[in-house]
Amino acid sequence: MSHSEKMLRFNKIIVGSEADEAQAAADAAAFLPADQIDPEKFFIPQQYERYTPENHEVWRKLFESRIGSLRQQASNVFLAGFDAFGLKPDAMPRLEDVNEVLARTTGWKSRAVPGYLPAKAFFACLSTRQFPTTITIRPPDELDYLPEPDIFHDVFGHVPLHADPVFADFLQTYGKAALHANDPMHVERLARLFWFTVEFGLIHEDGRLKIYGSGLMSSIGESNHALSSPNVDRRPFNLERVCETPFEIDHYQPILYVLESFEQLRDAMNQYAERVLDEVGVGAGA
Ligand SMILES: [Fe+2]
Repeated sequence: MSHSEKMLRFNKIIVGSEADEAQAAADAAAFLPADQIDPEKFFIPQQYERYTPENHEVWRKLFESRIGSLRQQASNVFLAGFDAFGLKPDAMPRLEDVNEVLARTTGWKSRAVPGYLPAKAFFACLSTRQFPTTITIRPPDELDYLPEPDIFHDVFGHVPLHADPVFADFLQTYGKAALHANDPMHVERLARLFWFTVEFGLIHEDGRLKIYGSGLMSSIGESNHALSSPNVDRRPFNLERVCETPFEIDHYQPILYVLESFEQLRDAMNQYAERVLDEVGVGAGA
């Protein structure tokens, strides 16, 4: 059985023609010009009552195994968002609850999607302050490693930072630049930027190294490695340098980049987005 079949068998939440239509719209978006992509078509309702007791149990196990070390390892900005959402171990999160908090803080939304979104569809969502959120959860025999996102990676790992106004603006600007970038050189550079920040970023806070990338939030092993292994080359964040650094996905990261603040990331992104959007004749405010 393939991994995707296993995920669908364990999760009863992706069903029906609505999910098929949303997935077809997302797949088709890969071939559309940026200004014709309508993210609204990719979203489905989170039919919460379809989660099984086994689904909630996996959430509880993941939550409880991660929360203790997270308090020590995670950025204060991340933890502030995390606490604002009031996520609990006893039940899987409802996106409508998450969105109530986001409406008060940054105007971002977490929107349920039926599965994998092609890159341009994903970026179109970010450019409108909407995070395409996986609503399935990993099966119990894959607690430690998952080759693709699930709701734990997305809601526990990504969404808390969306409550921070500075990170929220960065991510939208990133989405705009990535949506409109046509030059393969920029496409590759932007993928690296996402990887070394949103997924695997480190930040200096209170004179210590902390994690903020969601790939680190959702993996204890990789976080310990990122923060304390002598085999990791931890470099000061520099957008140009990040964009020139290739990455590999199938092992612990040997190179990581460290921010001094989220303002540093937002400001560097603003400059880069202006350059990318100028080249394709799209205004940065578009
Ligand atoms: Fe992610």
